Amino acid sequence: SVLEMEVEQINKGKYMHYMQKEIHEQPESLTTTMRLIRGGACKSKTVLLRGLKDHLKTIRRSRRIVFVGCGTSYNAALASRPIVEELSGVPVTMEVASDLVDRQGPIYREDTAVFVSQSGETADTLQALDYALENGALCVGITNTVGSALARKTHCGVHIKAGCEIGVASTKASNWHFAYTSQIVVMAMLALAVGGDMISNETRREAIIDGLLDLPSKVKAVLKLDEEMKDLAELLISEQSLLVFGRGYNYATALEGALKVKEVALMHSEGILAGEMKHGPQPSNCFSCLSYLFHKHLFCCSKQQSVIQQLQARKGRLIVMCTKGDSASVSVGGSCRVIEVPHVEDCLQPVLNVIPLQLLAYHLTVLRGHNVAQTRNLAKSVTTQ
Ligand code: G6P
Repeated sequence: SVLEMEVEQINKGKYMHYMQKEIHEQPESLTTTMRLIRGGACKSKTVLLRGLKDHLKTIRRSRRIVFVGCGTSYNAALASRPIVEELSGVPVTMEVASDLVDRQGPIYREDTAVFVSQSGETADTLQALDYALENGALCVGITNTVGSALARKTHCGVHIKAGCEIGVASTKASNWHFAYTSQIVVMAMLALAVGGDMISNETRREAIIDGLLDLPSKVKAVLKLDEEMKDLAELLISEQSLLVFGRGYNYATALEGALKVKEVALMHSEGILAGEMKHGPQPSNCFSCLSYLFHKHLFCCSKQQSVIQQLQARKGRLIVMCTKGDSASVSVGGSCRVIEVPHVEDCLQPVLNVIPLQLLAYHLTVLRGHNVAQTRNLAKSVTTQ
């Protein structure tokens, strides 16, 4: 009805689509998520996750942490895995929810299983949760939805507070896509809380907390790339495929960027672990490649540099993303486009890096003439198996 349309327009404000609004509102959603951080002065900076307080000891003593999720939630868990391992000292393994159930993979009483789901209602994730509960693991939920099945069934957990949801039935709005950045922030906080008893990593923890507090303003800065990403989308509009390469913290970014391009822009895209480049993918002229290159990265830059050289040799259209100021020291060649994002503590870099790709996916969707509000085949939560 006309009234419904008007209400929708008011909700969207200055934006054309909910998807665009949600991408641009990430500074606010992250600020809300970070209300969970307490303290002002450096010394007293701590992360208070009320829902987890009574279980921290058990998590620290567990023999491993298993991250379980689907789609974007899985990718967010993957992005957070290195920092959880680093600060907790507990090995972290990754499980795609449906695959854990298919395999009936071993889950033990001494395990902590962390379930990540924006909706808290995804059938595959809930089935994996039942399985882990049966096997006696401590089950932690990370969800955006208070009162969801996931929130109710897990032993403890954290609510992301990424902002209220828009019902899929009324609008098919796609805001659930962008819980990704808040999920990473929550899992970095989980890492801080679990590792909070170790003096040895105190300096690192404080640097991460400072990095977290800087995130909303840096996200705002990245959002200024909007026009640039629109230009890029115009360039890529009729490409057959977009390959996204990343390593270390940026492997998850590559997967998530590719997922958004697939899901929303309906263009073939693949996220590839850069180290696997020489073991399979043969990008040729018809491919566009987006490669992440981060100097201050944990993982050796020269490795990613060699991937870039290989890509250039194959004459694929190459786009390189790196931190501000690094492009000068990177020999990327004339025809290559460079996208620069601000630098932040390494484990939080995925939060910034994914945003240009979200913008790209949005602009590709619009330019390719797809209905952004009603992306084909997408349900807000997949409650069937
Ligand atoms: C569906 C959606 C994805 C989402 C996944 C997991 O497949 O299309 O965008 O990432 O479910 O959703 P969840 O609510 O569990 O995070």
